[in-house]
Amino acid sequence: MLLLLLLLLLLLSLSESQYQRGYKLQVSLSETVQEGLCIYIPCTFVYPDSWMVTRSAMIHGYWFRKRSQFLEDVLVATNNQNREVEKEAMGRFHLVGDPMEYNCSLRITDVQKKDDGHYFFRMERGWREKFSYLNYQVNLNVRALTEKPDIFIPEILEPGHSVTLMCAAPWICREGTPPTFSWTGAAVSNLRPSRETPYFSELTLIPRPQDHGTNLTCRMTFPGAGVSTETTIPLNVAYPLRKLEISVDQENGRGMETSSNFSILKDESSRLLCQADSNPPAILRWAHGGRVVLSSWSSDAGILVLQLPHLGVKDGGEYSCQAQYRMETQHVSLNLSVLYAPENLKVSALGPNKTVAILGNASSLVVLVGESLQLECVADSSPPAYMNWVKGSQPLNSSLPSSPGILCLELSHIQPEDGGEYTCQAQNPWGTQHISLNLSVQYPPRLFDPFCSWADEGLLCTCSIQAEPTPSLIWWVGERTVEDNGNNDLLQVMSTTSGAWTNSSLILRQKQDLDLSLRCEGRNQHGAHSLLVLIVSDRASVAALEFSKGALLGAGIMALLIVCLILAYKKFLRKKQLETGEVGITDSQSNEEADYVNVDTNQGRKPGPPPPDPVTQDPPEELHYASINFRRLNPKNQGESTEYSEIKF
Ligand SMILES: *[C@@H]1O[C@H](CO)[C@@H](O)[C@H](O)[C@H]1NC(C)=O
Ligand SMILES: *[C@@H]1O[C@H](CO)[C@@H](O)[C@H](O)[C@H]1NC(C)=O
Ligand SMILES: *[C@@H]1O[C@H](CO)[C@@H](O)[C@H](O)[C@H]1NC(C)=O
Ligand SMILES: *[C@@H]1O[C@H](CO)[C@@H](O)[C@H](O)[C@H]1NC(C)=O
Ligand SMILES: *[C@@H]1O[C@H](CO)[C@@H](O)[C@H](O)[C@H]1NC(C)=O
Ligand SMILES: *[C@@H]1O[C@H](CO)[C@@H](O)[C@H](O)[C@H]1NC(C)=O
Ligand SMILES: *[C@@H]1O[C@H](CO)[C@@H](O)[C@H](O)[C@H]1NC(C)=O
Ligand SMILES: *[C@@H]1O[C@H](CO)[C@@H](O)[C@H](O)[C@H]1NC(C)=O
Ligand SMILES: *[C@@H]1O[C@H](CO)[C@@H](O)[C@H](O)[C@H]1NC(C)=O
Repeated sequence: MLLLLLLLLLLLSLSESQYQRGYKLQVSLSETVQEGLCIYIPCTFVYPDSWMVTRSAMIHGYWFRKRSQFLEDVLVATNNQNREVEKEAMGRFHLVGDPMEYNCSLRITDVQKKDDGHYFFRMERGWREKFSYLNYQVNLNVRALTEKPDIFIPEILEPGHSVTLMCAAPWICREGTPPTFSWTGAAVSNLRPSRETPYFSELTLIPRPQDHGTNLTCRMTFPGAGVSTETTIPLNVAYPLRKLEISVDQENGRGMETSSNFSILKDESSRLLCQADSNPPAILRWAHGGRVVLSSWSSDAGILVLQLPHLGVKDGGEYSCQAQYRMETQHVSLNLSVLYAPENLKVSALGPNKTVAILGNASSLVVLVGESLQLECVADSSPPAYMNWVKGSQPLNSSLPSSPGILCLELSHIQPEDGGEYTCQAQNPWGTQHISLNLSVQYPPRLFDPFCSWADEGLLCTCSIQAEPTPSLIWWVGERTVEDNGNNDLLQVMSTTSGAWTNSSLILRQKQDLDLSLRCEGRNQHGAHSLLVLIVSDRASVAALEFSKGALLGAGIMALLIVCLILAYKKFLRKKQLETGEVGITDSQSNEEADYVNVDTNQGRKPGPPPPDPVTQDPPEELHYASINFRRLNPKNQGESTEYSEIKF
């Protein structure tokens, strides 16, 4: 009996392998699907025609899940009403193709994890035609569900305005069990979907301002497969400008600072940040000095950075950031100070004519004695520089009110000794700058301490003239001029010039009894001054002195008047001095009057040093006093006048 069965089995297998070549299946051998979804596996098959099978016989198709060798394969789908499919596969596995049409297409819905495995098709026709296409096993891979629903929502929600959101999944298959939708989130906690279909869900809500940023989740659950998937989005609810601030981000890691006043060193770099909190982001603009220098578009997320590389002096000032949110604008501003050492130091001189001259470094300034001058020193710097004036090395006080960065120096009735080097210094914590100028004071000639004496060679006279610029000196003998440094038998002139001084000596080789007029004249561009010496022979009893007054060129300063009178009255002199008596008459330095006459009877062979101030010294024994009365005459010509005096002893 057993033997007979084995034989039958062998026959059967033989006959099946015999037919194998005619049995063919066309199907994809590997398919992948996500849990909860559907899959459609197209499939066609062929089998060899057999005379034994009646054409009208029904063809049954079967899909089996392959199990291990010793377990029975599981029927998952068939068109045979009489065969029962596995319980778990029931309703999910469908033989959608018509086997009569050689179509073995399979659809699986609500795919479950346990559907993962190998499947094969079997056909049966009548009682003889049976074949399992075991050579064409379909490997079904079931993966976890990774598809997510889409939430359709306006980009921005207006608070208080009703809005309808939709959650849908275009990837779900209609043949499967419809998923269920659920909405969660702070904004929708007490809301029900307004409309629900098997394939999407709609939700209507009225967003509140506080809903901004809260999460909204749409969850889809696939009951057929027991899996679910969800999508979460943050709600984007509009709100107006809540905060607008600017800050400074400094190079060199000094960090951020938020303040309305800010100082940065020149040539450093910085960034100004403007931040506005609103939804949607406001349009931001940076303005400097009333001009917009940078704008943003609303997509810039409420922050606008203004780069300030290598700050210059012009970059200082007020920066304001303007935020425009819909119809509303706000702005904040900040003052940026660019700190720098004094620069562009300039001195301008306000002269007697209110003329202004800008003076460069080391420039020279020429003024006439008696004039006034205002020097204004100006420096650019931040913070304003401390300024001072120094003459030589001596600090000067300014009587004029000054403002930061400006310092004036007033010099009134300038005297020769006011000449020199003036320096203006400007200093702040970042540096110092100075500028120097030379003040040169010019004045017409002045004659000092003339001196005449009788010496062995003859009459020796010296004349010292001071003036700026250096004066020229001319001697007149009578109506003739004597060449400078000229030397002849009668006259010898020696002149030396040093600085403002021109000193000259004249030797007249003459007998003492001589009536002669000598004149020493100093001259520069500002005027002339001369000294007249009358040499009166001892026969004369009265000397008339002529005073020549220098004509001043434009300056209007009176020339100094100096009188030197040499008298040789023997009767007034002691016997021992009869031969060498000298009489000098000088006036004081006043240009108005001569107060007294100084008669020097000292014996001298060469011009001695000028006598000390005669006013303060006790008159020596030999002094002769004379009263001199000046009588003013009409000037000879414009700018010149002559004065005469009468001296009586
Ligand atoms: C097999 O059957 C399916 C379902 O009816 C059909 O969509 C498909 O076109 C058929 N395939 C062929 C090759 O006819
Ligand atoms: C919103 O959800 C995301 C993840 O989707 C999470 O990282 C975030 O913390 C959530 N925010 C809130 C406010 O719950
Ligand atoms: C900033 O400086 C300006 C003048 O430079 C001053 O008026 C203002 O009060 C200062 N502001 C602050 C907050 O210090
Ligand atoms: C900036 O300075 C100007 C003038 O110095 C002043 O009027 C303005 O108020 C200042 N701004 C701030 C924000 O301090
Ligand atoms: C100053 O003013 C006088 C007359 O008032 C004029 O002659 C002279 O040229 C002026 N000097 C300058 C430098 O302008
Ligand atoms: C100022 O003038 C004097 C002589 O005139 C000269 O020695 C000096 O160098 C000058 N100084 C400047 C700064 O020009
Ligand atoms: C300069 O000013 C100081 C104080 O302001 C004073 O003590 C000094 O005497 C002044 N010097 C001169 C030369 O005026
Ligand atoms: C002026 O000259 C001096 C000496 O030459 C120099 O030290 C100083 O920096 C100069 N000042 C300016 C403003 O150029
Ligand atoms: C010229 O004379 C004056 C005064 O008499 C004197 O101070 C000065 O040094 C003299 N100069 C020269 C170069 O001799």
